[in-house]
Amino acid sequence: MLKLTGVNVDLAGNRILRDVNCTFEKGTTVGIVGRNGAGKTTLLRTIMGLIKLQAGEIRLDEVILSSLPGHARAGYQIGYSPEDRIIFPTMSVEENLRLPCHAIKQSRQSIDHRLEVVLEVVPDLVPMLKRSGSALSGGQGKMVALGRALMVGTRLLLLDEPFQGLAPKLGLIYTDALSRLKTLQPDICVVITESNIKLLGNIPDRIWTIERGSIELQQTM
Ligand SMILES: Nc1ncnc2c1ncn2[C@@H]1O[C@H](COP(=O)(O)OP(=O)(O)OP(=O)(O)O)[C@@H](O)[C@H]1O
Ligand SMILES: [Mg+2]
Repeated sequence: MLKLTGVNVDLAGNRILRDVNCTFEKGTTVGIVGRNGAGKTTLLRTIMGLIKLQAGEIRLDEVILSSLPGHARAGYQIGYSPEDRIIFPTMSVEENLRLPCHAIKQSRQSIDHRLEVVLEVVPDLVPMLKRSGSALSGGQGKMVALGRALMVGTRLLLLDEPFQGLAPKLGLIYTDALSRLKTLQPDICVVITESNIKLLGNIPDRIWTIERGSIELQQTM
């Protein structure tokens, strides 16, 4: 479904991703584990089109993503929750959730419908909807970032270190949301990065390790 072939990325003149070849199948949850600076964020940002490839190709089913500008990729049902969250403080939680759908000009009706599904997956967002984006704890911000990624990410969901700094109780709520997602949308592909493999528990079906920008399949659960 998502296929990276020979992907090389340079940042500031240094090679950061080295000949990345991997395939993430529909309906699977994939963990990408690597220490700080290994290239996890760079990999996700490259898939999102926020960083240019030096060489290689990224394909989502029939679409060659790497030949599309970054802003065009959300239209292919890809949701991204960055490690630094970026919740807009002057907007309510609900406005934050709706924002990416407005950005790709979805109809009011389809946004309302999608919001209902997302709130079913992450019911903890319901009491937060009217709250200001500035009034959230770090953990709550991560839940909102998950919800926002889900609003458009109906095919592919990219989550950058979601469990980092999350209190154990919120970690369980997050994990429960991911398993509800699998039940409601069995075809979705979820990619989760972590530096600490233990935080992933038994969520992933597969784990890839990344080290100095090189990726390899570690295990199939
Ligand atoms: N904008 C940039 N310009 C130059 N080098 C960068 C840039 N962003 C990241 N790097 C370098 O690329 C490498 C990979 O960084 P990246 O943020 O992808 O790692 P990571 O695995 O996400 O790390 P962390 O666990 O700390 O989030 C690091 O050596 C980093 O210093
Ligand atoms: Mg990172």
